Amino acid sequence: MARRVGLLTSGGDCPGLNAAIRGFGKAALGTHGIETLGFLDGFRGLVENRFVRLESDELSGILTDGGTILGTGRDKPHKMPTNGRSEDRTGDAVNTYQRHGLDCLVCIGGGGTQKNALRLQEAGLNILTLPKTIDNDIAFTEASIGFDTARQIAAEAIDRLHSTATSHQRIIVVEVMGHRAGWLALASGLAGGADVILIPEIPYDVGKVAAAVRERARAGKRYSIVAIAEGAMNADQSEEITGLIEARRTAESKRDRQKLSAKLEAFHRDHTDHTLRLTHQLEEQTGQESRLTILGHLQRGGTPSATDRVLGTRLGTTAAKMAANGETGVMLAVLGDELRPIALSKVAGVKKLVPTDHAWVQAARDVGTCLGD
Ligand code: F6P
Repeated sequence: MARRVGLLTSGGDCPGLNAAIRGFGKAALGTHGIETLGFLDGFRGLVENRFVRLESDELSGILTDGGTILGTGRDKPHKMPTNGRSEDRTGDAVNTYQRHGLDCLVCIGGGGTQKNALRLQEAGLNILTLPKTIDNDIAFTEASIGFDTARQIAAEAIDRLHSTATSHQRIIVVEVMGHRAGWLALASGLAGGADVILIPEIPYDVGKVAAAVRERARAGKRYSIVAIAEGAMNADQSEEITGLIEARRTAESKRDRQKLSAKLEAFHRDHTDHTLRLTHQLEEQTGQESRLTILGHLQRGGTPSATDRVLGTRLGTTAAKMAANGETGVMLAVLGDELRPIALSKVAGVKKLVPTDHAWVQAARDVGTCLGD
């Protein structure tokens, strides 16, 4: 029977995190008699032993607030910037856990968090994780906290772009987040009726996108909306990155792996302005004035949708029950209407990308959306 647990939020913030913190803290305290220490600013707070006790005052009035009352960060305990250097601070994280006599540590986060949490589990901590990411790319779960709200925000933005695009007879390219996955661009593009949707899983051909826009103009459509995932790529870029990833996977020495990792990082750095380049290319190839809108962190801000509040509350309260029963070593996944534990060792390091035959892809094709291929 657990008596005291730690809780932290890690990775990018998003709406719905506070619902999960509240759900966990209230159920832990009220139903199971467990004390919860909330570590601040992600794994850094655990390493540096910075925390707040989550009691009823802290847990009140936060359900509808965006962000996370605990703060978050992208630090990894095993590679933590410390005094200008990267240090392995796993030992400090373990010390904090032991000093407080914690029975379990609950980590709410995305793909990176799952990997960090697994490392702490291997260092001896009892771990439970909850899926959170607007990217919807965590393996073995159908839903994650934040995705629904971000999808709604991006869809509303696309709705709004329609009237200005048509008034000016423009192409508007709208860049949607999602990291290396296309879920958010695909879902919001479908919901907002984008004319073109470009996602990383389907390499695009600029010529085909331009042709689709010209075809719309011939049919009397005065504008076109192109929803593009931040990680989308044309065929050449996709081939280059696939080659680099494969070379790194099969590299024989650590030195070669490091070199290839540096090349991959450089590729992604140079890729950040690709949506601007596409906007210029479309203007050149269609003769139609084009503009770029980058939605950026707007997609992670503000109040959570009802769906994310319910999801956060269910995940949080169920996790409290699991902590009380001593069930650890798992991520709590969403499968249909159910929440099911999946071994953390299975989840960590696996990305859920959009299958190219996914029902949403098919639906987009069926309504005549150009996917750039
Ligand atoms: O993982 C969530 C996410 O918003 C991604 O979609 C995006 O690529 C990334 O985080 C942005 O990170 P940051 O907030 O650190 O700029």
